[in-house]
Amino acid sequence: MTQTVSRRGFVRQLAALPLLALLPPAALAQIISRTPPTSPFGADSTAEEVTAGLDLAGKTYAITGANSGLGYETMRVLAMRGARVIGIARTMEKAETACASVAGDTTPASLDLGDFGSVVDCAAMIRALGIPLDGLICNAGIMALPERELLYGIEKQFVVNHLGHFILVNQLLETVMAAPQGRFVLLSSLAHRRAPEAGIQFGDLAFSSGEYDAWTAYGHSKLANALCSLELARRLSGTPTTSNSVHPGVIDTNLGRHLPWYLQAAGTLFGWAFMKSVEEGAATQTYVATSPGLAGVNGYYFADCNPDPGETAAMRDEAMAARLWQVSEDITRDYLPG
Ligand SMILES: NC(=O)c1ccc[n+]([C@@H]2O[C@H](COP(=O)([O-])OP(=O)(O)OC[C@H]3O[C@@H](n4cnc5c(N)ncnc54)[C@H](OP(=O)(O)O)[C@@H]3O)[C@@H](O)[C@H]2O)c1
Repeated sequence: MTQTVSRRGFVRQLAALPLLALLPPAALAQIISRTPPTSPFGADSTAEEVTAGLDLAGKTYAITGANSGLGYETMRVLAMRGARVIGIARTMEKAETACASVAGDTTPASLDLGDFGSVVDCAAMIRALGIPLDGLICNAGIMALPERELLYGIEKQFVVNHLGHFILVNQLLETVMAAPQGRFVLLSSLAHRRAPEAGIQFGDLAFSSGEYDAWTAYGHSKLANALCSLELARRLSGTPTTSNSVHPGVIDTNLGRHLPWYLQAAGTLFGWAFMKSVEEGAATQTYVATSPGLAGVNGYYFADCNPDPGETAAMRDEAMAARLWQVSEDITRDYLPG
């Protein structure tokens, strides 16, 4: 499947990349964005509804966590609308099973976001397909690990939810920028409210001081997702490529697998009263990835298919976002493009 990209546009976007990397954050322009239109969709819209009438034939999207919950539903609906979807799961077996179970054009791929080498390999496999990505949806995640776990000496939720995706984003930057209007969509969460008040714990990414709290660490990682999108949006300003983050709602999925049994049981029994369905939960990310009306909309945090100003000041803190990008680069340098 091929896509038309003007050669001049492609070269211009590629030429901008080294320049973006060289400029110190202070010298970079502020985020340039179109004002998003008010969407007719809301909390009870489904992914099918927000894409009704859209023909995504000729477009390609990649999504992590494609075998479960919101990622699976997003892949199903994108493929249903005619897109080619690269469904990324933790193992190739899971990716193949998920891709085979939806109708449409899907390609399985695998990575473990907690194993940086596998992220690099997955990105290489996607680049080798030789097609631009119209969207990269960074959807996979883990929540509220009961015990503090470390990977690379860093708290595991921050590694899996943020750093693994940070590498994937950087490895596929050119591939998304090669699309006429490529979009990065990063899954954040309302749980960013649970992050430490000071925001990203640059001095203690291992969460080694004080008592470990599973929700604080999860909120911290979800704040990182939103700030990563914010800084990416600033770096992409002036190009057609955009980055936005999303809170999907509260949905009963496998994400709750680490919660105590009684909370899981309560979710199953009473969740209908306050939770979204999976179909509704997948709507915002699907809308942000595909809506023609959102071309040029960059650097926003969406909830219920509309921009949300962000619940905490930290969510809009551009200096913290730039510092997070720099620190993430320092940590993952061996896994970033040369
Ligand atoms: N559900 C909610 O209420 C809610 C609310 C706010 C934000 N979110 C966000 O929405 C996103 C999707 O969550 P969901 O509710 O759909 O949860 P889910 O059903 O548990 O799906 C999470 C996906 O992430 C994958 N994953 C976990 N660890 C991974 C790793 N190390 N490497 C690669 N993939 C990994 C899982 O793979 P396995 O199946 O192999 O474990 C699964 O495919 C997450 O980022 C979450 O933080 C969800």
